[in-house]
This record gives sequence, structure tokens and C-alpha cells, in this order.
Amino acid sequence: MHTIRTPDLPSREITDEALYWNRREWLKAAGFVAAALPLAPSTLAATRGDDDELTPWETVTGYNNFYEFGTGKEDPKRNAQGFVTNPWSVEVSGEVKNPRTWDLDDLIRGLAVEERVYRMRCVEAWSMVIPWNGFRLRDLIDRLEPTSKARFVEFTTLHDVRRMPGQRSSILDWPYTEALRMDEAMHPLTLMVTGVYGKTLPPQNGAPLRLIVPWKYGFKGGKSIVRIRFTQRQPLTTWNVMAPHEYGFYANVNPNVDHPRWSQKKERRLGEFFRRDTLMFNGYADEVASLYTGMDLRRNY
Ligand code: MTE
Repeated sequence: MHTIRTPDLPSREITDEALYWNRREWLKAAGFVAAALPLAPSTLAATRGDDDELTPWETVTGYNNFYEFGTGKEDPKRNAQGFVTNPWSVEVSGEVKNPRTWDLDDLIRGLAVEERVYRMRCVEAWSMVIPWNGFRLRDLIDRLEPTSKARFVEFTTLHDVRRMPGQRSSILDWPYTEALRMDEAMHPLTLMVTGVYGKTLPPQNGAPLRLIVPWKYGFKGGKSIVRIRFTQRQPLTTWNVMAPHEYGFYANVNPNVDHPRWSQKKERRLGEFFRRDTLMFNGYADEVASLYTGMDLRRNY
């Protein structure tokens, strides 16, 4: 039984999209930016988001990058059907007070679930606006008590060829990993996601647990995470290993620095015709630019 990680809707209560939109409009009028879910008051913390129109559910859950389930955008939805995410274990290791393997429900029990509407942009220059639900990574990190030596945190996706057919191909060096510097991980915008549109996260979006770092390209959003490791040294990350000249560790959106094969100045919001200007730090510069003060963002791409 899913107990707490479905945030927090038994199937009979799942909001259909029309209702969802009504509630969203109402909440907007009432001064909230994003819609609050019908959560118990104790689990509902702040809501935050942006005013851009949401990308429809069908696009959010039907146009995905998740190479473990195929490289086509429509492959994950098809191939991840039936992917079993309960029970789910997460190993916590490295520079941490108590290294251990957790049952996911125990790991996240009691953390405050929030809904956040985030713009997400992919390196291929398409973007979406997605109402995620989850909890702050920093709240989880506080619970895990990393040691003073921890400078980075690494996230590893499940590696199981039987359950993830895309891993039969050697297109990536499995398992998929991502990592953040500790201050990026502790930033209040950084979210561990367990749901979208008020529903449990579908497998193609990285169920049961994925990372969202809204000022980074989508590829910082490691999916179906089974290990969280705190390290002293900067970890290797999948895209950086695969194509080091194209993808750096930081993967910040920088419209002023071209990707070796294309410009990064513009992006296409899925569903729109005209391309938009890509904003520095994906539009979150006010909140996060100070993390990178003094760094050469041309070299640290
Ligand atoms: N995580 C894993 N394990 N495997 C992947 O292929 N693709 C990344 C990221 N996380 C990927 C992954 C990329 S390139 C993007 S753009 C986002 O997931 C897409 O997230 P979405 O499908 O939920 O929109």
C-alpha cells in the first residue's frame, strides 16, 4: 500500500484536470500562486510558483526523456507502464552520520509536502511549466545529517536491466547519475519530487522519487533514485561523462554561451509557436545567481 508518498490522494479522490484548474484559479484569486492540494494541514507547507500557463498533463507525462525506457520522447510512457515502484529502497551513503538503506516511505515520512510550479528547460531547447509536488531536498538532507566533509551530493538511478529495458543498450554508462554541490542541494528551490498535477508521479516522469533543480537544464533531474551519496570530491555525472565538451558539471542554463552544436539563446515552450528568449538560470537568477558569484560560467558550463 502506498501510504505517504502519494501526495496524498487516494485514487477515488484524484482531482480530474478541470477541477484542478478551478481550484487553481480560485487559489490564484485568493492570493496563492500555485494550487494547494487537498492535503492534511500538517503536511501542507508553503506553495510557490510562477504565473506562466501550465503545460498540459498529456505533454508532461507523454513527452519525456528517460533513456532507461528508450530514447524516443514517446518511449518512456509506453515502456514504463507496469514499472513497479513499491516497495522502494534508497541507500544513503558516504559522508553521512548514519549510512543505511531506507524504505522510501520511512525516509520521507513527515516531510512537508508542497506543490511548486516550475519552469523546466531541456538542453534540446524545449521547455515546460510543471506543477510538481514533493518536499525540499534540504529538509531531507537535514534529516540525513551529512558530516562536515560532505561537499557534494550524488543521486543514482536504479540499474536493473530486467525492469528498465533501455539499459540493454549501451547508449549511456549505466546507472544514470547526477550530482549537486551542497549549497545547490540546500537551496530552497531544489525539490525531491514524488508527484505531479496532484497525482502520484507516473513512472515515465521518474517515480517514485526524482530530483528537480529548476534553474538547471532538465538533465539535472535524475529519476527513480535508489542512492543518495554525500561526497568530499565532485562526483562524475552521466552527461558530463558521455560528452564532457558539451555538458559540464553545473549544467546551468546560460543563454550567453552556445552549446558546441547550437545556440542556447532561444527555447520553444511546448504548445507554443514562437520561440522565447532563454533566461539566465532559467529565469531564477534573482534566487540563485549568488551561488555562482566569482565563478567563470563560460568554463563552468
Ligand atoms: N533521469 C534518468 N534516470 N534518465 C534519463 O534519461 N533524462 C533527463 C532527466 N532525468 C533522464 C533523467 C533529461 S535529459 C530530462 S530533459 C529530464 O529528465 C526530463 O524529465 P521529464 O521527462 O519528467 O520531463
